[in-house]
Parts: sequence; C-alpha cells; structure tokens
Amino acid sequence: MKEIIKVELKTRKVDFDKCKTDLLAVGHFRDAKRLDKISGVLNSKLDGAIERLIKLGDFEGKEGTSAIVYGNEQIGAKRVLLVGLGEKKKATLDTVRKAAANAANKAVAMKIETLSLALHSAFGGRFNLEAMGRAMAEGTYFGSYRYDEFVTESENGRLDSLKCELIDSDLAKTKKLNKGLSGGIIIGKAQSYARTLANRPGNIINPAKLATIAKELARSSKNLSCTVFDEKQLAAKGMGGVLAVGSGSENKPRFIVLKYSPPGKAVSSKPAVGLVGKAITFDSGGINIKSSAKMDEMKLDKSGGIAVLGTMKAVAELKLPVNVFGIIPAAENLPSGTSYRPGDIITTFSSKTVEVQNTDAEGRMILCDGLSYAEKQNCDIIIDIATLTGACRIALGKYMAALMGNDEKLIKQLQRAAEDSGEKVWAMPSGDEYAEEMKSKIADLKNVGSKWGGACTAAAFLRQFVGEKKWAHLDIAGVEMFEKATEFAAQGASGFGVRLLTTYLMNVGR
Ligand code: BES
Ligand code: MN
Ligand code: ZN
Repeated sequence: MKEIIKVELKTRKVDFDKCKTDLLAVGHFRDAKRLDKISGVLNSKLDGAIERLIKLGDFEGKEGTSAIVYGNEQIGAKRVLLVGLGEKKKATLDTVRKAAANAANKAVAMKIETLSLALHSAFGGRFNLEAMGRAMAEGTYFGSYRYDEFVTESENGRLDSLKCELIDSDLAKTKKLNKGLSGGIIIGKAQSYARTLANRPGNIINPAKLATIAKELARSSKNLSCTVFDEKQLAAKGMGGVLAVGSGSENKPRFIVLKYSPPGKAVSSKPAVGLVGKAITFDSGGINIKSSAKMDEMKLDKSGGIAVLGTMKAVAELKLPVNVFGIIPAAENLPSGTSYRPGDIITTFSSKTVEVQNTDAEGRMILCDGLSYAEKQNCDIIIDIATLTGACRIALGKYMAALMGNDEKLIKQLQRAAEDSGEKVWAMPSGDEYAEEMKSKIADLKNVGSKWGGACTAAAFLRQFVGEKKWAHLDIAGVEMFEKATEFAAQGASGFGVRLLTTYLMNVGR
C-alpha cells in the first residue's frame, strides 16, 4: 500500500531572487496598486514578465487562482508561481493558509520536488509571522494531500515526497516564521492522518479496526492512554444506544476512550474537556435503508470520530496543558435479521429511554451514550462532532459546520477558534422549542422530530444527555468532504474539525 505524500518543511534565510528552487510561490492581492517588494524584484530580473502577465489580464489575483512565470539566469527559481490572495481588506490568516495549499497542490500536480513559499511577504505586518508560519505549514500539508493508497503504482503517479521551505531574506523574519512551523507541522500531519482514516472505506475500517488504530495512536505517546469496550462490556455497562445501532452488522460495535494527561505535574486546575465523535463506519440507514444514490459517501459517516482521533494525536504531540478525553462510539449501521427496528424502545447509558422512529437517525443513538459517558467522567466541557443530519447540509451547504450549545462563552471560544483555524462554523439554535419535538408518548424521547429544522432538533436531542455540563455540538454534515477536487484540496475527506478543535484546545490551554 502506498504511503501518503511525505512533506518536509523548514525555514531558510535566502534572498528571494537568489533562491534556488523548482517553484517559488509569491502572493498577489487583487486590489494591489503595484507589485509588492518581492514580486517587484523578481519582475525586474525577469524583464517585466510579471507585469506583462498582469497587464494582459491573464492573472488578476483572485483567491483560488494562480499563474506561472518561468525563470531565467537572473533568478534562482525555475518557476515563479503567482498566487491570488483576493481583496486585501478581506484577508485573514486563512488567506495565507489557502494560498500555501494552492501552491502545494500545484507542486504535487506538476510533480515538483522543491517548493519555496514567500507568501507571507505580501501581507506586510498584518498578521504575526509565527501565526503565518503555522498557517502556511498547515496549508502545505492540506494542499499536497492525496488519497491514493489503493491505486497501484503507475508511470504517471505522483512523487513520494515534497520538500518545502518558508523563505525570507531577513533572518529575524525566518526565525519568527520558524516559531509557528513545528505546531503547523503537527496539526497538518494530524489532519492528513484524519483524512486518510476517514477516506478508508467500510471494508477496511470497521469499529474493531478503528479501536486498534486508536490503541496504536495511544502507544505512540506517553501522555495518551486508550480503553476500548467491546460488545460484552457495552452490554454490561448498559450502553443501549451503541448496541442497538451496531446490532445489524457482523462487525460489532466498540466504544473507544482516549485519555490525554499533560506531561509534568497534573494540571488539575485546568478543566477537563471531553470530545465526543460519531464514528459510524458505514451508514446504510439500517432497516430504514437509504436510497442508493451516493450511498457510498456514507463511508465518511465516521468523520466526527476520526476528527477526535486526529485532534488527540495533535494535542499529544503539542503537549498541550489541558486534560482531554477523546470519546468515540463506533458502530456500523446495516439492515439484517438482528438489526434494531423502527418502533423499538432503547434504554440508553443515561437510563433515559428512546423510541426509535427511524433507524437512519443512528448518530444521535450512539452519541447519547458518548455524551453521558463524558458527563459521568466529570468533563467540565463537552464538545461533540458528527456528520449528524442531511438537514445541516441543506441549511449551510458545504462551507461551514453548524454550531449549537448551552453555553455562550464556549460558543464564542469555538467561533474564535474557527476564525483562527479557517474551519468555519455558524451558530444555530437547539433550545426548548426543538427539544419539545423530541418527546415521545411511550418513552422519554424519540429519535426524530418534525419535518422541519432537522439539524436543530437533533442537537436538542443530544442536549438531554449532558446534564448541567457546558456543551457544544458541531454538525459537520456537508463540510466533512470535498465532492470534487478544488484548487486547495483533493476530492474526498476534508479532515474538518482537527484544526478547529486543536486550535480551541490551544487557546483554552493558554
Ligand atoms: N449520516 C447521516 C447524515 C448525513 C447525510 C451526513 C448526508 C452527510 C450527508 C445521518 O445518520 C442520517 O441519516 N440522518 C437522517 C436523520 C433523519 C432520519 C431524522 C437525515 O438527515 O436524513
Ligand atoms: Mn443515518
Ligand atoms: Zn449517519
């Protein structure tokens, strides 16, 4: 099986025009009145080629666009890649992250071996260089990522590795960029790890396999431990939700708990955060089977759980000073003679009973046990992440995740982390009106609401399982994947949540 592309990243002090490289990426704002300092120098050494390209209108600097100018003997680079940064006043840290992703994506597509990024320069002093270094590192991993482990080697396949550097002519600046680099590399790698796991189909990853992967991850770090409950232990504990959803498959369910404790003295003053991720390794809908169109995409229904796994990896490598639980209920939702049925009444881990009105609303049936577990572990803050509802995708499309919760401060912190990480969220309600719809006549709750506001009623259901704890919910249906390849990303799993949750934990740990 093929390894994912190996990215090497460092910083280097070198004059922009003397930098020997296959591809030198520089940024250009659409509304820039003139070329910035680096492009100006390169332009004059290239006899005005950059200016001509722009004057001809072949490159305007729109975000997501780029253009290549070929080098000459006057400069060290074989090619200069102009990367569009969009409008200057709209620029955020994500602009430079996406620009790096765009450049890295081009480099892989062109089978280029060495890539030098000078994308930060066009921003002037707008953002601090450490943050830009981190963002560029994350973007490089993101854009160079490909999922092709099952594609048999072919002649026109990609290269195995990409050597990448962040360059500046000023040593003080490269030093600052370098400060953000190690964190960016850890987060970038964790996100690629998550994308590969999420992309693996249901015959490769099932709940037991996922548990093995979590155990392997825990073995890689002194600060991580992993406990897995199998079917028998689930029954002994009374985790009726996970058991019900997993009952139709030969691949039995698991309940995975990763625990991260920071190095050094116990940081008991810091709150414990519980991350709960939905891991349905394949969602056929169960007895309420889905229609066949695009059912294959439901291999990505484990993306929330995988985002938790990727975040735990990043948190452990960053050695963050927070206590974190990674709680991943895992099951496969299939129809069979042993499946749970519409109409069944399930007693969940919380001892609340749920009337199953639709076996395809299975995410909340496993998450409720995960949330109660986090509550019983005394997590002060609980955040769940799940590809929970088609309704979320309809409401927000593929650009941002829905964010619900019961605590204003936590919601604000997650919104802040979304801005820093470029993984966007949009706040949605999940209060009493929605909760009312989830009451059953014959049990405490039912697992579907009315036709309307499906993302909100699903969140209102989950809210019943966190007691008095601070809680937030991320519905990532829609952002968990790219339906087609873009300028920034390969088709398939996005790894959404790894950057967002890690950034949140970095901020609370400060
Ligand atoms: N995994 C799906 C939600 C989903 C749909 C994710 C499309 C990504 C893309 C979830 O388990 C589901 O089937 N939800 C149902 C709930 C309904 C039966 C109340 C849905 O949204 O249709
Ligand atoms: Mn479903
Ligand atoms: Zn599902």
